[in-house]
Amino acid sequence: MSEKLKVILDCDVGHDDAIALMLGASHPKIDLLGITAVAGNQVLKKTLANTLHIVQHLDLNIPVYAGMDRPMVREQMVAGEIHGESGLDGPVFDPLTIKEESEHAVSYLIRTLMQSEEKITLVPVGPLTNIGMALRLAPEIIHKIDRIVLMGGSWGLGNYTAAAEFNILADPEAAHVVFTSGVPIVMMGLDLTHQALADMNVIERMEGIGNKAGKLFGDIMRFTFETQRMFGLEAGPVHDVTAMAYVIDESIFETKPAYVEICLDHGSCYGRTVCDFHGISGKEPNALVGTSLDLKRFWDLVETALHDLN
Ligand code: RIB
Ligand code: CA
Repeated sequence: MSEKLKVILDCDVGHDDAIALMLGASHPKIDLLGITAVAGNQVLKKTLANTLHIVQHLDLNIPVYAGMDRPMVREQMVAGEIHGESGLDGPVFDPLTIKEESEHAVSYLIRTLMQSEEKITLVPVGPLTNIGMALRLAPEIIHKIDRIVLMGGSWGLGNYTAAAEFNILADPEAAHVVFTSGVPIVMMGLDLTHQALADMNVIERMEGIGNKAGKLFGDIMRFTFETQRMFGLEAGPVHDVTAMAYVIDESIFETKPAYVEICLDHGSCYGRTVCDFHGISGKEPNALVGTSLDLKRFWDLVETALHDLN
């Protein structure tokens, strides 16, 4: 049994996705087996290219797989107002010379889970389409998943509608498949991630590391420093980084068990994560929901990880 945790990152790069990728690629506790791209912040072509740019720019030896290019049921939506036309506006990269693997991400997820002797932690930080499809195609994978530690949802307000957070709203049916799968879930929702803001002190701290990863952090977060203020935030939240940081050191976080149900009614609450912390539904909790974090230890973790990248 290796000391490292086997992890697959599923993402829609995306500014905060990129930093979660850097954290997972760098930390000694994580064996980042592969990265699966999904449509979300932008169309799949763009989120895939953005993922490849991060891997190439930092010379990471991690395979990338293209996944679902649209949600399971609803029409596609993107978040250009936050992440820009490319989905990763801000940093400038050399032309891509690396390519994604030929295998579809959903097939890769199923094959890798079924072939692994050890259980694998899935860290989805975009719409849950790839994970939902894998669970529907091969339900037996639930016995090979250690935990799903995801960024998505909220028990309070949403960020794409008043009720729903982007990742969940972008594919509510896939989220329903995941949250009803029986796999242990840790949910880092907006109520937690809005506590992890990359303000100018943080940006300058990471740029001060003086390497490519620190500069990339700055180029990335200086862009969303402006676009995320639309929510009345003083800076951009590093939403997705909290999920990867939890996998690395869950003691940084406080969580509470809850029964989380995805609203599938096509009304104003479509895509809402209804979080029952008090057993009102009479249903057993299906998730641990992040409620707070030790910011000093969180940013120390991020800085150490960026420092250890080139
Ligand atoms: O609502 C925040 C989530 O939507 C983050 O994962 C961000 O990257 C976008 O995908
Ligand atoms: Ca994301």
